[in-house]
Amino acid sequence: MTGTGIGTKESPFTPGRPVPVEYFIARKQEIERLKRAMMQTAAGRNENIFITGERGIGKSSLAGLSRYLAEKEYGLLGVHCFLSGTKSLEDVTRTIFQRLLEECGDKSVFDKLKGIFGGYIKGVTLFGVGVEFTDDKSELRGLLDNFLPILRKIYEQVKENNKKGVIIVLDDLNGITELPEFSQFLKSFVDSIATSNNPLPLLLVLVGIPERRADLLKYQPSVARIFDIVELPLMSKDESREFFTNMFAKQMIDVDEKAISLMVELSGSYPMLMHEVGDAVFWQDTDSRIDIVDAKLGIMEAAKIVGRKYIGTQISSVFRSKVYSSILMQIGEKLPIGATFKRQELLKENAPEKEQKNLDNFLKKVKKLGIMGDAETRGEYKFVNPLYHLYMWYEAKNVKELKD
Ligand SMILES: Nc1ncnc2c1ncn2[C@@H]1O[C@H](COP(=O)(O)OP(=O)(O)OP(=O)(O)O)[C@@H](O)[C@H]1O
Ligand SMILES: [Mg+2]
Repeated sequence: MTGTGIGTKESPFTPGRPVPVEYFIARKQEIERLKRAMMQTAAGRNENIFITGERGIGKSSLAGLSRYLAEKEYGLLGVHCFLSGTKSLEDVTRTIFQRLLEECGDKSVFDKLKGIFGGYIKGVTLFGVGVEFTDDKSELRGLLDNFLPILRKIYEQVKENNKKGVIIVLDDLNGITELPEFSQFLKSFVDSIATSNNPLPLLLVLVGIPERRADLLKYQPSVARIFDIVELPLMSKDESREFFTNMFAKQMIDVDEKAISLMVELSGSYPMLMHEVGDAVFWQDTDSRIDIVDAKLGIMEAAKIVGRKYIGTQISSVFRSKVYSSILMQIGEKLPIGATFKRQELLKENAPEKEQKNLDNFLKKVKKLGIMGDAETRGEYKFVNPLYHLYMWYEAKNVKELKD
């Protein structure tokens, strides 16, 4: 089948976006940990969790699923706030309250909650389910100073509608963790709940790469003991295999065993890359059967997309240098995708000092750019993920062809 039906084809893969709940896979242990916190919250306690892990590992997806489960299975009211553009504590509180109002689910509850905020609300959006808060600085300050009492009032209201508590997810913390006030705020907020006689069933989930947590600890070391950590590792090969098998099966697409193995291998068990690879291979397919050729073409396409998206700008500086390009070319040609290498293996016997220096500078540079890193064995290097390797090989080949 060629070309026909292309307009109706829809990819189930979501590269670059948190996965929809129905396509979520694996992470059993982490989900159990979060469920325990939800159970404690529904029983009246305050629980605080920090979901962490490297970029693209699946933090927002897990947070999204948690919120879904908290609402569905534990009767909590949930909001997932993305704070990337948020630069002040006032903005954080405004975003949280705004989302709580939007998500409370019921017009009568909404009206009651709106009553709590009274003058702070400037307007109601069309259809009456969204709100616009004041942008007056001193009024916003009032919201911030009364954050806990307001949250309590909100809980008292939603309790009447059988909610057992509240889950607030704060995601994309990059703008806000740089503010020392944010750590202080978290600490005094959690301490106030703990020392009051009046418990608040609140599950607070922070989401961020380890550097964001380190930011918080820098300004307020006690944050370390406030938040339990849920750290996401790479997926296993079996999980990755299950992922590709299920995703294509749901679309009624057959996949050859060899094609699956190649996709598993080359996406290196990174959820982010699994979606990029799956999506690119999906669009290669024209006959509802994916063979090794579709897989290879798709993976090459994914490597280009991933390379340009994540390391494209940094890497152009490497290619501008003739010396570095040729080292890369050597690595690309010699090294099987996914393999590690020793510095010594790239040097000819008795290589002049200059060549050694070039190689060392090169390694330093690509490590700093996040393209290569140390392998598990000391003294060995590897590409951060197999697709970067493939992309570099492809680019190095192009550069060489242009020069030849
Ligand atoms: N459990 C999962 N099942 C299926 N796909 C997943 C899972 N977790 C993550 N993904 C996919 O992996 C990619 C990265 O996920 P997500 O955006 O959740 O990561 P993240 O850690 O929040 O990334 P960032 O650090 O960039 O915010 C997305 O394409 C998402 O759809
Ligand atoms: Mg995220």
